[in-house]
Amino acid sequence: MISNQSEIHHIAIGTFGLGAERKEEWTEKSTSDSGTNNDELNALMTAFTAGQNYIETSFIYAGGETMKFLATFFQQIPREEIFITTKLEKFIEREEDIEIQLDKYLDLMWLTYVDALILHAPSISKLPLLETYQAMRSMVEKGKARHLSASNLSLEQVKNLTENGIKLFSIETLYNLECKIHEDTGFLKYCKDHNIMVVCYQPLRRNRTAKRNYPLLVELAEKYNKTQNQILIHRITKHKKLHALIKASTPEHVKENIASLDVEIDEQDLKRLDDFRSIEFDAIADQIDREDTGKSFPIYKYANQFD
Ligand SMILES: NC(=O)c1ccc[n+]([C@@H]2O[C@H](COP(=O)([O-])OP(=O)(O)OC[C@H]3O[C@@H](n4cnc5c(N)ncnc54)[C@H](OP(=O)(O)O)[C@@H]3O)[C@@H](O)[C@H]2O)c1
Repeated sequence: MISNQSEIHHIAIGTFGLGAERKEEWTEKSTSDSGTNNDELNALMTAFTAGQNYIETSFIYAGGETMKFLATFFQQIPREEIFITTKLEKFIEREEDIEIQLDKYLDLMWLTYVDALILHAPSISKLPLLETYQAMRSMVEKGKARHLSASNLSLEQVKNLTENGIKLFSIETLYNLECKIHEDTGFLKYCKDHNIMVVCYQPLRRNRTAKRNYPLLVELAEKYNKTQNQILIHRITKHKKLHALIKASTPEHVKENIASLDVEIDEQDLKRLDDFRSIEFDAIADQIDREDTGKSFPIYKYANQFD
């Protein structure tokens, strides 16, 4: 059973939309049309076999189809060798709603417990954040979740939980080459100092960062004989020592992503990546609704404000 963050592979398995029959019906738009269920299952097996042992799930991915699909995958691997997280979604109005939701997701995935239970975003609970997490603790006490984790919290919200005795195993949030808000606010440092594993979603910004062909990325990809996406993943995992949560539907993409760990990049080139700033994304960073109150776009929509 995986109990320590150091046992977790630096590339986490994203599952957005996997197993969907008709992708046009997804809750959110995806940029990918590739992959069949077989490819996707192969991609998951390729990732797991290569050591990727952290997987995220959510009911809202393909309206529950992804969870059903993942049940097939989970049946094929030893349960204790993978760290499975799942998210609480909308409509938490009473403490009891937490267990009702979790039971439903466990059933769909043929699981008896998850390794970490996550509130998808602050706005999905009508209860105050701290109260929600205090109530989520009962799922750990009942053995239905081993840890509590979080997603899309602001630095102040993480502090509120931490200072009130909620131990977070990890937090899923947005971080990539263009969206560096969490570096600027000290969020990443706080998590590191408090041993909260940061799992960065949209590390490739759904392949849109590479499509921009920024001269720096094009140059480094050529210099190190890697793809632009590999440079992006290497930066997050090996250089920043964070976890990259990537959705890949094909074994080829999985292999390419894992091969990003095999390159050594010079210090001065890593510094150039650190110094890279996106004028567009920086210009709207102060408009992010960091507490997810509904006033503006939240952190989980920041990366989608531009192509
Ligand atoms: N907690 C949250 O609120 C939150 C928010 C956003 C995202 N997430 C989760 O984080 C995970 C990752 O986010 P994401 O899927 O939005 O973004 P992403 O992982 O940055 O990008 C995924 C896209 O990139 C493509 N891709 C993967 N590897 C590639 C490669 N080597 N070369 C070219 N293209 C490649 C995938 O295509 P193929 O599918 O064709 O391989 C897919 O279209 C998802 O499972 C998502 O659900 C969580």
